Amino acid sequence: MQEIIVRTRTFRRFVQKEPLSTATLHELIDLARLGGSARNGQPWQYMVVNDAELCARIFPYLGWAGYLPDWHGPVEGERPSAYVLCLLNKNRLKGPESEAQFDLGIATQNLLLGAMEKKIGGCRIGAFNPKLATLFRLADNLRLSLVIALGKPIETVIIEQCRDEDDVRYWRDEHGVHHVPKRSLESCLVEVELFDDGVTKRKSL
Ligand SMILES: Cc1cc2nc3c(=O)[nH]c(=O)nc-3n(C[C@H](O)[C@H](O)[C@H](O)COP(=O)(O)O)c2cc1C
Repeated sequence: MQEIIVRTRTFRRFVQKEPLSTATLHELIDLARLGGSARNGQPWQYMVVNDAELCARIFPYLGWAGYLPDWHGPVEGERPSAYVLCLLNKNRLKGPESEAQFDLGIATQNLLLGAMEKKIGGCRIGAFNPKLATLFRLADNLRLSLVIALGKPIETVIIEQCRDEDDVRYWRDEHGVHHVPKRSLESCLVEVELFDDGVTKRKSL
């Protein structure tokens, strides 16, 4: 589990000409749909796009790697060969929309873990131009919330420990290796502090 989680990184450069079949993409969505869901509402639906022409129409609407201002996204030949568009079906909401966002995080992580097991890499893209939705005739109850770009990765992505906890920006070295700083375990832990009868009791970890 640890190994696949470490390997499941965000990839942004792909072998564009390597197609992803509809059957494979459906297998990944089959993992997404099994995730936990607040009130078990399961409000997410997914649109699969793996046609090269349609992929080319989607690409200009996507925002890539905001921390790399000199890189304007993957060049022709290294672009995703498929997309999964995540659509919130508002008719299926059982509670506040904020709950559905948790569900989407769980679902997309299931999808990306399953993809990596098949040596397919992906990138969630929240920074898309909302006009992207107008390319499709979406029913009024469906809202485009996230795009997942997928393909066979051609870049090396490694995680490293944050050197400076205030600096979480990913970066690329001179060999094009993409580095992703992650906070240390210690900095993710908060000590238990009980406030009892006006006395603060600390419990060591
Ligand atoms: C909800 C969400 C939205 C994201 N949106 C974008 C995006 O618009 N463009 C992009 O290049 N990366 C996007 N990412 C990828 C993050 O930049 C990436 O997860 C982060 O740099 C950590 O790298 P890692 O996924 O390899 O751990 C998004 C990730 C998440 C979870």
